[in-house]
Amino acid sequence: MNRKGIILAGGRGTRLYPLTYAVSKQLLPVYDKPMIYYPLSILLLAGIRDILVITSPRDLDSYQRLLGDGQKLGIRIEYALQNEPNGIGEAFRIGRDFVGGSPVTLVLGDNIFYGQGLMAMLERASLLERGVTVFGYPVTNPERYGVIEFNGERQVVSIEEKPKDSHSRTAVTGLYFYDNDVISIAESIEPSKRGELEITDINRIYLEKGLLRVESFSRGFAWFDAGTIDSLAEASSFVEVIEKRQGLKICCPEEIAWRQGFIDRDQLQAMVASPSNPYESYLNSLVSGC
Ligand code: TTP
Repeated sequence: MNRKGIILAGGRGTRLYPLTYAVSKQLLPVYDKPMIYYPLSILLLAGIRDILVITSPRDLDSYQRLLGDGQKLGIRIEYALQNEPNGIGEAFRIGRDFVGGSPVTLVLGDNIFYGQGLMAMLERASLLERGVTVFGYPVTNPERYGVIEFNGERQVVSIEEKPKDSHSRTAVTGLYFYDNDVISIAESIEPSKRGELEITDINRIYLEKGLLRVESFSRGFAWFDAGTIDSLAEASSFVEVIEKRQGLKICCPEEIAWRQGFIDRDQLQAMVASPSNPYESYLNSLVSGC
């Protein structure tokens, strides 16, 4: 059955105040494109063409203006509201009807992934029929994240939300490939002490059933959650440096849709309205093959 995708783009973005007083975090620029283009690109790279964007009532119009119904990219985009940031796990309650009986991939709207081997990892995760695949990444500040602890045989022994003194530095990134059981599991969990439906509680249930698989991003791979002023600025600098050096764009959804065969050359060309704009001139260069 076709895998569905959810981009969670609600939240308050309090750590980015005053930037987020009037604008949703996931609409802020990461160098040359809105932040949400990066997680959207990950879903497209995973071959997912049925996508639900969950956002807050204040920002719904802006996302609809930016992304529309997805037709231009040869995909289908629907929208749903999260009235309050009640936790990442709530995505599956809100998205229940959208997901139906399909497997589902969740990506957080402020997560940016870039590096070699990503496509192969996404493909492996997509093909898994039972359980969940999460992606681990070594960080210097594990207390900010869900953290995975391994034993000597690299088996997962625990997964904990924002631990104060973990022995592990492996953070769980904001990209999760679930089977359809996630829908009923999300219904069954209770809010945590901080009042949120925790994604870590969902993942722990999979771990207890022996159905949690971890893919680890290796050295040299880049993962940012652009939720603080510093990480937002660092992510922008990173994208700028790589794009200027290689002349290739990181996470350009139009390019990915074309390379994946979701749209043809004419449809890509139709998106170039003002070739003097650098972003559109890049699309134009793809069309003309130079
Ligand atoms: P966070 O960065 O944990 O929360 P936030 O975006 O509200 O920011 P802050 O902590 O600065 O107030 O959220 C991670 C991502 O998940 C982000 O893209 C927003 C999204 N999110 C929701 O859409 N709904 C939620 O209930 C939560 C907790 C997060």
